[in-house]
Amino acid sequence: MLAARGGWRALRRCASLPRAARLRVAEALRAREPAEAVTVQGWVRSVRSQKEVLFLHINDGSSLEHLQVVADPSLENRDLTFGSAVEVQGKLVKSPHKMQNMELQAETIRVVGPCDIWSFPLKMKERHPLEYVRQFPHLRCRSNTLGSLLRIRSEATAAIHSFFQDNGYMHIHTPIITSNDCEGAGELFQIEASSEARESAEKTHFFNVPAFLTVSGQLHLEVMAGAFTHVFTFGPTFRAENSQSRRHLAEFYMVEAELSFTESLQDIMQVMEDLFKTVTSSVLSKCPRDVELFHKYVAPARKTKDRLEQILKSKFMTVSYSEAVEILKRASQTFTFKPEWGCDLQTEHEKYLVKHCGEVPVFVINYPYDLKPFYMRDNEDGPQHTVAAVDLLVPGIGELCGGSLREERLPFLESRLQRLGLTDAYQWYLDLRKFGSVPHGGFGMGFERYLQYILGVDNIKDVIPFPRFPHSCLL
Ligand code: 4AD
Ligand code: MG
Repeated sequence: MLAARGGWRALRRCASLPRAARLRVAEALRAREPAEAVTVQGWVRSVRSQKEVLFLHINDGSSLEHLQVVADPSLENRDLTFGSAVEVQGKLVKSPHKMQNMELQAETIRVVGPCDIWSFPLKMKERHPLEYVRQFPHLRCRSNTLGSLLRIRSEATAAIHSFFQDNGYMHIHTPIITSNDCEGAGELFQIEASSEARESAEKTHFFNVPAFLTVSGQLHLEVMAGAFTHVFTFGPTFRAENSQSRRHLAEFYMVEAELSFTESLQDIMQVMEDLFKTVTSSVLSKCPRDVELFHKYVAPARKTKDRLEQILKSKFMTVSYSEAVEILKRASQTFTFKPEWGCDLQTEHEKYLVKHCGEVPVFVINYPYDLKPFYMRDNEDGPQHTVAAVDLLVPGIGELCGGSLREERLPFLESRLQRLGLTDAYQWYLDLRKFGSVPHGGFGMGFERYLQYILGVDNIKDVIPFPRFPHSCLL
């Protein structure tokens, strides 16, 4: 959290400064010593006016906890309401209350921006349900729950970057606009210049060829893995698929890694597991209060905290796709989609498998050749029978990560692309197999699904900064 990072430096600075020092709320709350002439800015979360004293709670997003401001009632004014933006100057003193370390004794209170409490959709001291605040994508970040979520999201982003950088991976910015459909599933958003920006009516495509928003940075990462060995990317990806679901978004963030000189799918699975455990431990230790809010109040029934602690201590399980189908066929439960070798695992199947394995993360490996994209490596266990693919399934969510060994052998790749009629489009990709090809593999993890899982959040729209406005425009 912010205070953990730069807070103490600011406080030391303030101790040696005779004149007003500006502190973030988190810094003020964690200060070890009282300080004179302190300024804190933020938004009012509560106002309580008593005969002899005025209490405010202010928050500036740096922590879940608010800073208590104690003031003389003469400082009250009618613009000082819930939601207003304020600047408070005064003395930082030890608080007599057990619940907080420090409080601010106000000398001046300036209302920087008033707030009309009657039309403001958030109400003082109310715990608004996630469904309610989702209607206000532009204001919900000022609620406690979304504040915590966004701090966790920021911390998890930093932890993901640290994990890869600490393990010798180079970060690559892969393109957002591309011509390839990496997954071959056709779930693409096509992009063109607007009619006003178009140079001439005759020009069909802005880039002379059809262009799309990327569905995955993988193929570009493979290019880079051919020079830098271990690479990763973490950026927005887009899929034109059902956005009404609780685990699908049209725009989401994906963490992707690619490893050269890797012959075993187990090595890829080990990186997935290490990434999950390292990032989760880091988030749990850096934002304990924010995470607690979710585990205790947003989804208490899921017992996410206990389950996570258990999972961090144990090894993830592995089953092959063929074993998975057998397990499903033996199940007493009747499924809407009958489990059959060669068919995709449906959400109901994934849920059953995870439950069957004891509600822990499960790797499913070696999927049918025909179910998976062209780049996956043939296991040669029969004529085009299975590929070295892996999906990581987690309780409550289903698929969290997807990865594979890549087909590095030129003849195999050439014949597969030819059968799919993709040879011309992927000449550049075939080049990678002609010039210093090496066994390699990688994976992608959906960042929003990761957050949903570790926090126990039911709807994926509640872990993104900006959900779409319900009916009208995009924010
Ligand atoms: O399984 P996917 O489609 O894998 C790939 O795109 C590979 N090219 C990644 C790679 O090997 N570099 O997507 C990876 C993950 C999924 O497991 C899922 O967690 C997430 O991305 N995902 C979505 N998350 C939210 N909304 C959607 N519409 C998603 N589609 C995939
Ligand atoms: Mg997948």
